[in-house]
Amino acid sequence: MRYEGAGLTVVFVLTFFVGLPVLCGTWPYSAYYRGEGVGSSSSSADDDSSALAYLSQVETAQQQPEEEEDGRRPFLLVTIVTVRREGQFYLSRVVARLHQLLSKYNNEQHAGNDDTIVIRAMICNVNDDPQLHREALHLQRIFPLVQRRDQLSVAIHNLMDKEKEDYVFCLNASRRSAADYILILEDDAVPHDDLLPVTRRFIDYFNQQRPRRRADFFYVKLYHPERLQNYLQPEPWRIAEWLAVSVLSVYLLQVVFRFRLRRHSFWLVYFMALVECLGRPHLLQLKRWMLARLVADPAAGYNLLQATECCTPAMLFSNTSAATASAFLSSITCRKGYAKDTALYLHSRQSGGRLQSFVVEPNLVQHIGRVSTLRRNH
Ligand SMILES: *[C@@H]1O[C@H](CO)[C@@H](O)[C@H](O)[C@H]1NC(C)=O
Ligand SMILES: *[C@@H]1O[C@H](CO)[C@@H](O)[C@H](O)[C@H]1NC(C)=O
Repeated sequence: MRYEGAGLTVVFVLTFFVGLPVLCGTWPYSAYYRGEGVGSSSSSADDDSSALAYLSQVETAQQQPEEEEDGRRPFLLVTIVTVRREGQFYLSRVVARLHQLLSKYNNEQHAGNDDTIVIRAMICNVNDDPQLHREALHLQRIFPLVQRRDQLSVAIHNLMDKEKEDYVFCLNASRRSAADYILILEDDAVPHDDLLPVTRRFIDYFNQQRPRRRADFFYVKLYHPERLQNYLQPEPWRIAEWLAVSVLSVYLLQVVFRFRLRRHSFWLVYFMALVECLGRPHLLQLKRWMLARLVADPAAGYNLLQATECCTPAMLFSNTSAATASAFLSSITCRKGYAKDTALYLHSRQSGGRLQSFVVEPNLVQHIGRVSTLRRNH
């Protein structure tokens, strides 16, 4: 028995003080990450130049914005809310990726003779002085641009409220397109490859469910910060998942790999610590990767859950819920501790089930923003 205890201690020490620190030093969401913040600056310089190269290729290939008005009502409008950020090409990266994904998606629809589902994109420039946001002005060659002409001459000192006013402006501008659904991206949210097909699948799912629900969804968050996706968070269902993953791991070792484990409680705690240290975002990505290979459907690797609080880099609204959201946001004043994300979340929670909101896991966009001129760095 004494030797067994010593053996377990050795396993524990080797795992958590030798193996994992070596293995996971470069895993951005693990407890052992040694880089300086998520998304290192060297890779972002490469990403910037490849985005800029792609965009200049698109510009030479087309002389005016591709998304000409052809009278067809878009199924989905993707609106990018942007302010000027000194020395950064966030917006160009988002626009380049979105343009790639839209071309691919619309071509596939066209090839499948399903031309009725049109997805468009738009840039919403909410810089204090729109003319100073040169990057946005330049990119109107790629996507249509809207900007405020009636900027308040007196600067609003309450940044949270200014941010909310900007959001309402862009929501209302998006509603004018008469799209059935509106996805509002912030200008530092780079879409993942699955963004459009998975969003479409979830919308179809909601439409199937509609007869059974009293109302449509209020909003669907397509992003939640990775640092808040771990198991040690207030969402109670995560504890259940944490236990389930650990029990399953013990079971696999014992039954499938025929390890003779005693002290099941030790191994349960061992696996709970192991998955938490590896980082739940990595497990979610592993699940997405495996399911994408097992099942032909890209949406299989994603879950739809009850919304968590915090952060608005990627929010999906329906045409009706966009109106509800903008009317609600227009009626309140945001302040520190009550920013637009908290306000929307509380409004949904306090509606007594009338306004249901959701979050998709894993994330459908990557949040690259570290320089913030206006909004909080989520
Ligand atoms: C909202 O979209 C639905 C289709 O999803 C459409 O039937 C309805 O007319 C639209 N409403 C408005 C106000 O555009
Ligand atoms: C936006 O639309 C909402 C709802 O229709 C309205 O209450 C609000 O005044 C509008 N705000 C702006 C800035 O257009």
